Formats: sequence, C-alpha cells, structure tokens
Amino acid sequence: MVDWQKALLMMLLALLIYPNDIFGGAFQPEFSGPITNLTVPLGRDATFTCLVKHLGGYRVGWVKADTKAIQAIHDHVITHNQRVSVSHSDHSIWNLHIKGVQKEDGGLYMCQINTDPMKSQTGMLSIVVPPDFDPEATSSDMMVGEGGQVKLTCRARGVPEPRVSWRREDGKPIIIREPFAGSVPNQKSHAVPQSEFLGEELKLTKISRNEMGVYLCIASNGVPPAVSKRIYINVHFPPVIQVPNQLVGAPLGTDVVLECFVEASPMSINYWVKDPKGAMIISSMRHDVQTVTKSPFEVRMILTIRNLQKNDVGTYRCAAKNSLGEVESSIRLYEISGPAKTQTPVLTVFYDEEDEAVFGSAEMDKTENKPLAVDNTVHGHMGYPSLATPSSTIRIGKKRPINVSSGTDPYPRRLFVLVSPLLSLLIVRRGW
Ligand SMILES: *[C@@H]1O[C@H](CO)[C@@H](O)[C@H](O)[C@H]1NC(C)=O
Ligand SMILES: *[C@@H]1O[C@H](CO)[C@@H](O)[C@H](O)[C@H]1NC(C)=O
Repeated sequence: MVDWQKALLMMLLALLIYPNDIFGGAFQPEFSGPITNLTVPLGRDATFTCLVKHLGGYRVGWVKADTKAIQAIHDHVITHNQRVSVSHSDHSIWNLHIKGVQKEDGGLYMCQINTDPMKSQTGMLSIVVPPDFDPEATSSDMMVGEGGQVKLTCRARGVPEPRVSWRREDGKPIIIREPFAGSVPNQKSHAVPQSEFLGEELKLTKISRNEMGVYLCIASNGVPPAVSKRIYINVHFPPVIQVPNQLVGAPLGTDVVLECFVEASPMSINYWVKDPKGAMIISSMRHDVQTVTKSPFEVRMILTIRNLQKNDVGTYRCAAKNSLGEVESSIRLYEISGPAKTQTPVLTVFYDEEDEAVFGSAEMDKTENKPLAVDNTVHGHMGYPSLATPSSTIRIGKKRPINVSSGTDPYPRRLFVLVSPLLSLLIVRRGW
C-alpha cells in the first residue's frame, strides 16, 4: 500500500469515527427557532416542532420535562404512550405528535440534541377544556310564591375556570334586591336591575310576577363552545281582575262589549255570569265569549252581547279562579235612550295593545280606516276602572294612554267608548 493510499484510508476512518469534529466542527448543531407553545382542547391532536440546523451525526430527542420520560430519540418512539409519534424532514424539522391529548399530557416538553453539553429547548402544552355544567349542582325549573325568594345555581367546570353569567331569555333586566333572607339583617333593601348578572348563584328576593320567565345561565371560558342552561321560574299568585269600565251604557239594539283583565298564576279558569241567576254565560247567538292570552299570566276576557235587549241590562260578573284563590268583579250594563236608527254610528271600540286590532260591533267595520269621531269628553263619565283582588294589595295597571289613529288627543286604552252626539249631554244631566 502506497502512502497516499494509507492517507486516504486514515481519512475515511476518521470520517467514520469523528464525523463532526472534522466537517461539522465549525458548524455545531443549533436550534433555528423556539418551540411554539401549544394550547389544545382536550381530545384534540398536538404537534411540537423543533427546528434544528447542522445536525450532522447528532440526534434529536424529546423528553417530557416534568416526568423526565423520554418520548422519542431520532425516529424511534421510546414512550409506551400509544398516542405519541415522531416525524422529521431534512434533518432540520423534527416533530413530536400527540394524538387525542389527555389532561396528563399537559406540561413542558423538551427537544434535546445530544451534543456535549446537551442542547435543549422547551415548549409548553396547555390542555384546555370547554365549559360544562355540573348537573348535580345546577338548578332546574323553580316554582315560587309571589314575594318569595329563589336561589338559582349553575356550577360549571372547565379549564380555564369558566365564567358564569345570567340573563333573562326575554331580555328584561334581572332585579337584584338585597338582602337575601339569612344574610345581613336590617340592611336597607334596594333593587338593582341589570341585564346580566355574574356569578354561579343568582338570588332573587321579593320576587314579583314580572320576574316570571326563563333565566339563562351561560358558562364560557374562551374554549368553544360556551354552554347555557334554561331555568324557568314560575311565580305563583292568586287571580287579580282589573275592569277598565264598571259602568257601560248602550242603546238597545247595539252590540256591547264588556271586558275584564285577569292576572293569575297558575292560569285561572275564567268565566262570566249574569246576576241574579248567576248562570255561566257561554257563546251563543246572543253572546260571544272570548279569552285572549296576553302573557303567561295575563288574559283578557271579552264578552260581546249582540243586539242589546231590555233583559240584557243588569250586572255582569267576570270571575277567575286558580289553586291559590278566586276573585270576581262586576260590570253594570245599562240602557241609554237614543234614536238607535237615526244616530251617527254608535261605536263600541276596543284597541288591542299589541296589534291595534279593533274589536267591536258590525258598525265598526265600516269606520275601520277612517279617523274615529271620538268625543273625548264622554269617556270620563262612562265609568271608572276597578280592581278586584283577593288580597289587600292594589295594583294599578300599567296601561298607558295612546294616540288614536290619526287623532291628536291622547286617548285611554282598553276603554269602551260609546259615542253619540247626544250622549255627553245626557250623561252629564244624569249626573254620572
Ligand atoms: C412558552 O411558555 C412559557 C411559560 O409557559 C414561556 O416562558 C415561554 O416564553 C413560552 N414560549 C414561547 C415561544 O412563547
Ligand atoms: C302621540 O303623538 C305625538 C305627535 O304625533 C307624539 O309626539 C307622541 O309621542 C304620541 N304619543 C304616543 C303615546 O304614541
């Protein structure tokens, strides 16, 4: 073997034994970028990427920093965790894959190069969990007497800790009245309405019928999806009847509408009777009995008496009954004289709060689209509103005056108006 051949052999041997000292020596392996931290929802896949340059003959390994468990060396998976795998391309991009991450997979992961001393960098795997309610500690629908109190609870789990808030499904404000019974006594009570309430417990005190309805508790922690739960609060109270007109006068031969407004929860059974017999009035040729539901606890009772006759005159009573009580209110229907044939149309007008539909006699239909010839001086004498309630609480209705079609004067709602040119004079004379 000649010298040059010996030299070449030595060179090849040296290359095999100390490859990096000869060629890579000037280019020690190094990381070409940091490891990106990962935030992964429970059950999803995670991939860490370690960027390396000048790896030469060195190897890349993955270690879970907290347990020191070796995950993989080069392209061999070491851990027994079946969900872990590795991949690489060009000896410069080294990936650690974790399928379907579990809570225990969370933590610091280290990418190492087996230089001396060892080089490493770390990346954090954070496992997040979307919110969920703890069914054991979350309220279901509630029933409470008016004036009572309820405590609604929604406990949510998740990572990070979910934020729980409350809203009413109908968008009405939540009214927090302090104090809740059992908390600091003698504290001055004051109500705070708010569209959203924060916290796992919602305490409602001195609850009123207007607070009846669906309450939503919503849990969110930034990890979709947020969850919500509907809780229905049913507020119970005995029936209350409100009568817009206790005195109604009409000429014979006309159609007359009597009405009562009932609030009750649970919903009451509602009916009309006429004194003195007290028989329940049902729909017939002469009578039309209607009930219009305004809300889960409000109904309008409408009795139409067609073609008023002498024996129709008298006292009518509307009655409402539920499991908590029973109440009735009366309306006196009297005859007013008047040349029924020749007079300008006698109107029995009712304005519906929601749809402005007009209920009334046949004569009404012809005037539907015209401005109404309403003499506002009349209705003040027509009767007076009344409230019938089994308790001593008097609740004034929240009905507000509205403008009549194209009319310019404010006009009381839910009022029967009977108009005839002679009427106001007549009534004033009678001293109503
Ligand atoms: C990763 O998270 C750790 C702490 O959890 C932080 O110190 C480090 O700077 C983060 N790295 C990057 C690249 O954001
Ligand atoms: C009645 O009409 C006037 C003028 O058109 C208006 O300013 C007012 O808001 C109306 N009121 C109601 C209760 O609709």
